[in-house]
Amino acid sequence: MQERKILGIDVGASGIKGGVVDINSGQLLNERIRLETPDPATPKAMAETFGELVRRHNWSGLVGCGFPSIIKDGVAYSAANISQEWIGTNVVETFSLACGCPVEVLNDADAAGLAEMQFGLGKGEMGTVLLITIGSGLGSALFVDGQLVPNTELGHVFLKNQKKVAEQFASNNARKREDLSWEEWGIRFNEYLENIERVLNPDLILLGGGTSKRFDKYDSYITVRAPVKPAQLLNAAGTVGAAVYAYQQSRK
Ligand code: BGC
Repeated sequence: MQERKILGIDVGASGIKGGVVDINSGQLLNERIRLETPDPATPKAMAETFGELVRRHNWSGLVGCGFPSIIKDGVAYSAANISQEWIGTNVVETFSLACGCPVEVLNDADAAGLAEMQFGLGKGEMGTVLLITIGSGLGSALFVDGQLVPNTELGHVFLKNQKKVAEQFASNNARKREDLSWEEWGIRFNEYLENIERVLNPDLILLGGGTSKRFDKYDSYITVRAPVKPAQLLNAAGTVGAAVYAYQQSRK
């Protein structure tokens, strides 16, 4: 089978990570390159970093990008952990201009979910599969019988007991900010999953993002009914999924 390569870029609130992805296998073909997300994470500053990352790969061709916001028709509709200036900004145009390549953009958690459903533990899974990414925020990707329901924002459900949205309570940023032990944080994360399970009843919950690598530290505090597993692609899922999405769009 012919190898198809696409540059995948996972734009996060703390790092922007790129890697060339073999679309057939979902494998990264190089060591991922990570640049710090500028602070403040304005469109201008992030576009510069995005362009720099594409140039460091010596890349010309299609680029897939996962972005930490609701994305509809290439436009950002939210900005929880990045500059508010992003709201209403056309991310596709901004990043294409910055790197001189065609760019396809989707929500970062949706990107991670696409990769995990195609190449990881979600492969062939029917029913309701939910992937939660744990990082600066809490991202979500929901699949029903293998089909993505895009732009769910289950990290933003309001937790009545905590009087705040879930990601302010149970993200990795919350763990670091409040200096929580893994036990303290694990109990919080489980409380969050209980809220989600009450309304959504997923058949399988997969965890992505940086904190999925530390699953052994909080596994024992998770008591929800659905099986909960760290995604097989772990933190690389966002990069791989961004490339897969760009490929899918190019075939339409
Ligand atoms: C954003 C989501 C994003 C998640 C993970 C949240 O703050 O609202 O769109 O998927 O962070 O980056």
